[in-house]
Amino acid sequence: MKIDQYETTALMNTAARPAQVFVAGRGSWLIDHRGKRHLDFVQGWAVNALGHCPPQITRALAVQSARLINPSPGYFNDAALALADRLVRLSGLSSVFLASSGAEANEGAIKLARRWGGRHRDGAYEVITFADAFHGRTLAMMSASGKAGWDTIFEPKVPGFPKARLNDLESVRALIGPRTVAVMLEPVQGEAGVVPASAEFLQQLRALCDAHDLLLIFDEVQTGIGRTGTLFAFEAASIRPDVLTLGKGLGGGAPLSAVLANERADCFERGDQGGTYCGNPLMAAVGSAVLDTVAEPAFLAAVRERAAQMQAVLDRHAQRLGGSVRAAGLLQALVLPMPVANPVVDTARLFAPDGLLLNAARPNVLRLMPALNVTEQEIAQMDALLGQALEEHS
Ligand SMILES: Cc1ncc(COP(=O)(O)O)c(C=O)c1O
Repeated sequence: MKIDQYETTALMNTAARPAQVFVAGRGSWLIDHRGKRHLDFVQGWAVNALGHCPPQITRALAVQSARLINPSPGYFNDAALALADRLVRLSGLSSVFLASSGAEANEGAIKLARRWGGRHRDGAYEVITFADAFHGRTLAMMSASGKAGWDTIFEPKVPGFPKARLNDLESVRALIGPRTVAVMLEPVQGEAGVVPASAEFLQQLRALCDAHDLLLIFDEVQTGIGRTGTLFAFEAASIRPDVLTLGKGLGGGAPLSAVLANERADCFERGDQGGTYCGNPLMAAVGSAVLDTVAEPAFLAAVRERAAQMQAVLDRHAQRLGGSVRAAGLLQALVLPMPVANPVVDTARLFAPDGLLLNAARPNVLRLMPALNVTEQEIAQMDALLGQALEEHS
């Protein structure tokens, strides 16, 4: 496909991309090659916690890139030590492995669980995961995910991921056997269209894992770092997992992820886990810069305020259309009574002079995941544009 002066065929055709090329971004706005502005309520798939090109991140990149970019994961560096220490203090867990993507962090969590099973549970290796879960696109994480259609592609599957149903404790209990070592889930299933596990279910899972001596692993790649209105989604259920994975918002758009473990779970031996970019100071400095802002109580209070405003907007549209809303902080979904989410996304993007970027998580589900520092006025602008787009398809 040719888009004005751009030939796109040198990139593998792995996604259905619209015919525009983005060249710049600032806060909640993304600008394409024709200079058209888009109000961005996708934000790199819930990645840009502070919006596009925030000064905190551009500054951290500039300063750190002039000091030290990558001495090798075989050496300590001050930026990685500082970020790990910060994450330990904020989460209440006790050690951290830094990586680059969410899938890579989740692979690390599964390897940790399998190592733990080898040590403490007679070689147990199965990790119970959930229908409709999303944990990433590596071969093992595609097996761990419960995304429809993924069970039949790229065979053979990585074994060891039996599937339970979210918010159904008996479905988990029924899968526990001598080979089970852990239960892994997203506290809110993001890619499934913002489907929350109830606090009660999470508390019951914690108790079930304790009773059966299993590890509880939370994939907070999408929900962590303020997205749901608390720094970590697990805080809302007043429990703590044994292993926690973070990604997306932690790097605020830069490739940074983490596996955190408590003392009980951290059993990696030297050589078990690593990678060329794991713990590189350039990304670690970005992670600390993000936390400098997002971990502040006043910032999180503002996230909750904006989340309430956005939910009120979506509730109003849902009521008018006969739909519903699922919300967890600034991760929200408008469930439509008809499967028009994709056409609504296209219509909203094509509005002029300003387009609106939304995500269709399902044919009838619009997902909104703005920057955590989105303004009151930007939510009002989204409201107006969304209303127009819905109007055209109802
Ligand atoms: C809950 C969850 N886990 C893992 C991933 C994979 O992260 P990445 O794309 O950085 O590998 C995602 C991405 O959407 C996610 O939402």
